[in-house]
Amino acid sequence: MTRQTSVLLLTAALLAFFLTVGAGDVPPTGEDLVQRLGCLGCHSLQGQGGDKGPAWDGLGARLTPEAIRRQILTPRGRMPSFAQIKPQELKALVTYLSGLK
Ligand code: HEC
Repeated sequence: MTRQTSVLLLTAALLAFFLTVGAGDVPPTGEDLVQRLGCLGCHSLQGQGGDKGPAWDGLGARLTPEAIRRQILTPRGRMPSFAQIKPQELKALVTYLSGLK
């Protein structure tokens, strides 16, 4: 094997290793989730987003974490339920949203 080939192989192996580790169970952040789940199609933050639902500015001062959790799982009004999300996703969402003061 030439020196060049082994450097190449080593690089490939390292890359494969880090990609695998990266794809592991890294908990998503609440910010990622509101993008991914499309919440901002209906809700807005600082004027950015949709207007079908209430703006989220100051949400954490208005609703308890429990009320936010309930709205995500069994929503009032014209909001779809997100009861199918993973428990860790729900937790990340509630933490993020209740931090919006
Ligand atoms: C199709 C539009 C729509 C989508 C998508 C949507 N919502 Fe809503 N949401 C609403 C509406 C409408 C309300 C108001 C419900 C009511 O009280 O009548 C609401 C209310 C809420 C409230 C309570 C807000 C308040 O001020 O009382 C929270 C919290 C909330 N949504 C979180 C979420 C989260 C988190 C997501 C994404 C996982 C999401 N929503 C996606 C339409 C939507």
